[in-house]
Amino acid sequence: MPRPIIAPSVLASDFGQLSAECKRMIKGGAEWLHMGTASQMTSGGRAIDYSAPPQMSWMGPPVLSCISKAVPGIFMDCHMMVAQPEKWVNDIADAGGSLYCFHIEATSDAVSLIRAIHERKMKAGVAISPDTSSTAITDEIGAAADMLLVMTVYPGRGGQKFIERCVPKVAELRARFPDKDIEVDGGVGPKTVGVCAKAGSNVIVAGTAVFGAPSPEDVIAELKASVAA
Ligand code: DX5
Repeated sequence: MPRPIIAPSVLASDFGQLSAECKRMIKGGAEWLHMGTASQMTSGGRAIDYSAPPQMSWMGPPVLSCISKAVPGIFMDCHMMVAQPEKWVNDIADAGGSLYCFHIEATSDAVSLIRAIHERKMKAGVAISPDTSSTAITDEIGAAADMLLVMTVYPGRGGQKFIERCVPKVAELRARFPDKDIEVDGGVGPKTVGVCAKAGSNVIVAGTAVFGAPSPEDVIAELKASVAA
């Protein structure tokens, strides 16, 4: 299995201190920062509808660009919870994005999109929402992607309850793609990381569990140890 990576979700940070918050996490042992770059989701989590979002955050290119200048070398794992993910590849690349993760539900040509992401020298991730089967990631898509993201909450906001029925999808994807990074995101913390790691996830996104802790570095270390075990 690829190496363990902990990616604190910056959506749970103090937005008034964004770059300081990122630095604090890196100092605490985080290698990646998970950027809920754009989230404008329907409650079904399939789509991603600009017209009626239940909640919206827009950590968009101008913000990412400021962070990448303020925190040199930062690895920004950009989770694009948007319709038409094709539209934002260049903007996110220009802003310093390291990984561009789009939802399989939001595109009809994932392989071409992965190619476009790679052309802009970013890693490509493909996310599936809780109601999407792991078979939506075809062999061709999985082989082309660098990372597969299994959402363990409906995308859109932090602090939700972990949906355990999503975990078997991690195991299914790990069996088919032994060398890929497999990320879990949503409600993951010290209590829920174990099942994710056991199923084969090596990239752990945690927002509330890390930013809300008195000692984020201890939580990061604990999560990492659980994945490595
Ligand atoms: C959900 C976001 C998550 C979220 C996770 O739409 O992609 O990254 O911030 O937050 P927690 O860990 O608090 O569930």
